Amino acid sequence: MMEANPLVCAVNLHKTYRRNADRVEVLRGLDLEVHEGEFISVLGASGSGKSTLLHLLGTLDRPDEGAIQFKGRRIDNLPSQERDRLRNQTFGFIFQFYHLLPELNTVENTLLPQMIAHGAWSWWWNRGEIRKRALELLDRVGLSHRLKHRPRELSGGEMQRAAIARALVNRPRVLLADEPTGNLDSANGQHIIRLLRELNRQEGLTIVMVTHNLDLVADTDRVVRLVEGRIEADPNAAAAFDTAMASK
Ligand SMILES: Nc1ncnc2c1ncn2[C@@H]1O[C@H](COP(=O)(O)OP(=O)(O)OP(=O)(O)O)[C@@H](O)[C@H]1O
Ligand SMILES: [Mg+2]
Repeated sequence: MMEANPLVCAVNLHKTYRRNADRVEVLRGLDLEVHEGEFISVLGASGSGKSTLLHLLGTLDRPDEGAIQFKGRRIDNLPSQERDRLRNQTFGFIFQFYHLLPELNTVENTLLPQMIAHGAWSWWWNRGEIRKRALELLDRVGLSHRLKHRPRELSGGEMQRAAIARALVNRPRVLLADEPTGNLDSANGQHIIRLLRELNRQEGLTIVMVTHNLDLVADTDRVVRLVEGRIEADPNAAAAFDTAMASK
């Protein structure tokens, strides 16, 4: 059963990008509720605002209007230090283009969010345990044989798997995944989706995944579509609602 209160909630989000005289109105009053333990896919045309939405949900950027709530509490307008701390503890990000640091090897890239979370002193005292967690995750994503490689020495699929391990190292409550399979062939893509599904089922990880790949969305709990700056009415939800009402 779904809990009544959403874990993450986007309320009436508006976002317009401005460049000189250009205005790109991307989100126009978008609402979305994400429940604990859900695995949601977000579809939408290129440029429709999917990455923008994930950035706003995870407080990497702020809406012009509207709000983001986590467990009923507004988080988009927190003082920046508090927001950074909450983001670091709550959200894991898989970015559309990996964002691995080129000078760091696989283990170091994976450990980075933990270094930020701990600060120098605590990091030093806990480094053995933290490293163990990183190695476990890298094993889980199948990268144990590439620990010392730098990103340019990894394949696309391997970089993506390193990015997934990094996104999970702080034990986030919510994983925001921007086309996690976008640069992979279909076998590697399936592998990543299976891994996300496993994390979702076994650890209750809540996932919001942007994807272009219609073959992959069948495996997720709910599919939403971004159209003209809003979430289009969800045909699955409407059908489920009709069925539920009909059986009363
Ligand atoms: N920093 C920015 N400054 C100006 N315009 C931007 C900025 N970021 C995004 N845009 C514009 O906003 C629109 C939405 O961008 P966004 O990256 O959210 O789309 P998307 O749905 O993720 O697309 P894709 O599927 O190609 O990744 C695009 O038209 C883009 O050009
Ligand atoms: Mg995008």
